[in-house]
Amino acid sequence: MTGSSDDFPIRVEQRGPFAVWTIDREDRRNALSRSTLLALGSLARDAAQNPSVRAIVITGAGDKAFCAGADLKERAAMTENDVRAQLDLYRSELGPIARSPKPVVAAINGHALGGGLELALCCDLRIAAAHAELGLPETSLGIIPAAGGTQRLPRVVGPARAKEMILLGRRVSAGEALAWGLVNKVVTAGESVVDAAIEWLAPVGGGAPIAQAAALEAVDHAEAVPLEVGLALEKLSYERTLVSEDRREALAAFVAKRKPVFVGK
Ligand code: COA
Repeated sequence: MTGSSDDFPIRVEQRGPFAVWTIDREDRRNALSRSTLLALGSLARDAAQNPSVRAIVITGAGDKAFCAGADLKERAAMTENDVRAQLDLYRSELGPIARSPKPVVAAINGHALGGGLELALCCDLRIAAAHAELGLPETSLGIIPAAGGTQRLPRVVGPARAKEMILLGRRVSAGEALAWGLVNKVVTAGESVVDAAIEWLAPVGGGAPIAQAAALEAVDHAEAVPLEVGLALEKLSYERTLVSEDRREALAAFVAKRKPVFVGK
């Protein structure tokens, strides 16, 4: 495991084929400082190129918060232009997580508020501790969620529920989030949400990387383009898998009644 510092406040651990990134700012409830955003972006760019990372789990230190959003203490000292630059940083540094060719799971170990929920919304899958609460309180701070929250939340829970959360500043419990489809899974009280995420990801660890990347790409198109365009893009994503060695290996393994060994080619 690599330790964190003020300049790079994320602990990085490799667990089998999975990278676990822990935002290590418990005293600020893992809020997103400038250096936290830069570290996340740099890790995501590196992970995209690293064949030994098959999926990524993002979590927060401690059990109080996954991430309490913008670092409001850092923000208090910022000029309007500084805040504009910070907003650009959210987009440039969380973008590589949202576009990751490998699955990214938010292991929501506590509060996911504001930018913290927006970070979780950049992930492909969300798994939450039973005590976690999720919310976008920005309008109560005189702003709006602008790290993707007004766009990604309605795509996941629908516009009415998104407006309820954003306008009323309502925090939803893990159970409600599960019912709304905002999280995929809630772990039982006392269970480690990171351990549960790692266990859950097992099929990804043994699966075919090209097919997984192509599937992520194809599904991500579904929310962005009209159906006919999405179907055309799906065909292009399929083509990447069609010419792969892993596709032939899966067929050979099926015929030989053995487990396939995928090499990512
Ligand atoms: N930025 C900077 N510091 C933060 C922070 C944030 N977003 N959220 C919490 N902290 C700090 C607190 O100031 C406090 O520091 P202190 O000990 O120096 O006073 C410390 O973290 C613990 O906070 P506390 O509120 O006592 O913890 P809690 O576990 O009872 O509650 C939260 C956790 C996340 C529910 C609560 O801290 C909170 O609501 N934070 C603000 C969330 C928010 O509005 N985010 C911005 C969205 S734009």
